[in-house]
Amino acid sequence: MTVTDIGSRIIKVDHAGEFGAISIYTGQIVMAKLFARDLVPELIEFRSHERGHRAIFAAELNRRGRPRCKSYWLCGSGGLVLGLVTGLLGRSAISATTVAVESVVLRHLEQQLIDLRGIDEAAVLAISAIVMEERLHHDQAASHVAQSSLWSRLLNPVVSSATEAVIWLGMRA
Ligand SMILES: [Fe+2]
Ligand SMILES: [Fe+2]
Repeated sequence: MTVTDIGSRIIKVDHAGEFGAISIYTGQIVMAKLFARDLVPELIEFRSHERGHRAIFAAELNRRGRPRCKSYWLCGSGGLVLGLVTGLLGRSAISATTVAVESVVLRHLEQQLIDLRGIDEAAVLAISAIVMEERLHHDQAASHVAQSSLWSRLLNPVVSSATEAVIWLGMRA
């Protein structure tokens, strides 16, 4: 993998990941409207952030003349299913999912920033632009659900490994 390629690969994977995040929130919004109405405004706000993140990465991909990731639609459909299922399980499951996903996302973004610093400043700029909002999603969701709760303990390993797998796949696609 060449040096410039790493930045483009990361941008491509992050772009697909944002579509995954949008889809998770879409699934959860559908279910929360039925089972956890008070969470709906927050989920809609988070989804609008994710749309902004996707637009940032889309613009950067476009500038580089790179196509979207092969895993783009997988991220979207997987995210939607994850959102619908966890949404069906209720408010604690919704927040536990957000905490699990955003923890993995934050860990990767921070590593990406370390790997790309001094190598690909445009990629660093795009990633830096979204980190604060991802942390907000993590922290706000974490304030709704205890890490020791049943849903956190059940969903955390499943959601974390699914998110890791999608990122792993995307980096190699
Ligand atoms: Fe995002
Ligand atoms: Fe997020």
